[in-house]
Amino acid sequence: MLTKMKTAAVLVTLVLGYAIFVPPANASGDAARGKIPAYTCLGCHGIEGYRNAYPSYRVPKLGGQKAAYIVAALQGYRDGEREHPTMQAQVTSLSDQDIEDIAAYLAMLNSDTVENGGTQNVSLEAAVTCVACHGQNGISVSPAWPSLAGQHEEYLIESLNQYRNGTRKEAVITQMAAPLTDADVKLLARFNSRLEGLETTSPE
Ligand code: HEC
Ligand code: HEC
Repeated sequence: MLTKMKTAAVLVTLVLGYAIFVPPANASGDAARGKIPAYTCLGCHGIEGYRNAYPSYRVPKLGGQKAAYIVAALQGYRDGEREHPTMQAQVTSLSDQDIEDIAAYLAMLNSDTVENGGTQNVSLEAAVTCVACHGQNGISVSPAWPSLAGQHEEYLIESLNQYRNGTRKEAVITQMAAPLTDADVKLLARFNSRLEGLETTSPE
């Protein structure tokens, strides 16, 4: 269960500690150059309802996702820190510059909603600890952290479970996800998926 007392203290430490390590937002990506290689990506990410096969869950929405987070995710797959054979195969041949460009392009899509910070405010009690990083309205407060607003409910469940069972590792969020129960995960995923934010953006 989420206990407010402990989390408040842990959170302050985490957030302060984390700020020191967060890489500065990288502005070196060129969205125009990133558009062309990103076209293949939208073959999965740009199709509403497209699913990962085993286990079955929806391919995450990327339109409006934070650029530095996309960069970190892609480098994670490329360097093998983040496991997923399909995604790993997609990024093996990408250079750091390609990754920056693609991230700049994807972050720009649907950025109007995300820039405006969505319209709703998180009021779910279970989400109080999450908003410090993922934002009052599910739009993350740092370009290095993923926005959750509008993401597929199934993907949010899947990713939280990946942190809980250790298949996906990242110091900060692993600690946040560990105390969550199955019921917390369901509730948080349901809640965030219903906020206005990320979108599936189809190839033009
Ligand atoms: C064959 C389908 C497919 C293709 C093509 C594909 N992806 Fe993915 N992508 C996925 C799936 C499935 C996941 C979820 C993997 C996981 O659970 O870690 C994912 C995850 C991601 C994530 C992590 C999102 C998050 O919220 O953590 C990013 C970023 C991403 N893909 C970018 C890309 C880019 C850029 C390309 C093109 C170079 C691409 N993908 C091509 C299926 C695909
Ligand atoms: C101290 C900052 C911080 C707090 C607090 C936090 N997170 Fe995170 N969260 C992160 C970071 C950083 C990542 C990206 C980690 C990575 O690269 O895998 C992340 C990733 C995620 C993801 C995966 C998103 C994706 O697109 O793949 C989900 C889902 C998530 N967090 C949900 C939550 C929930 C629910 C809470 C509250 C219980 C929470 N987070 C609290 C920092 C935080």
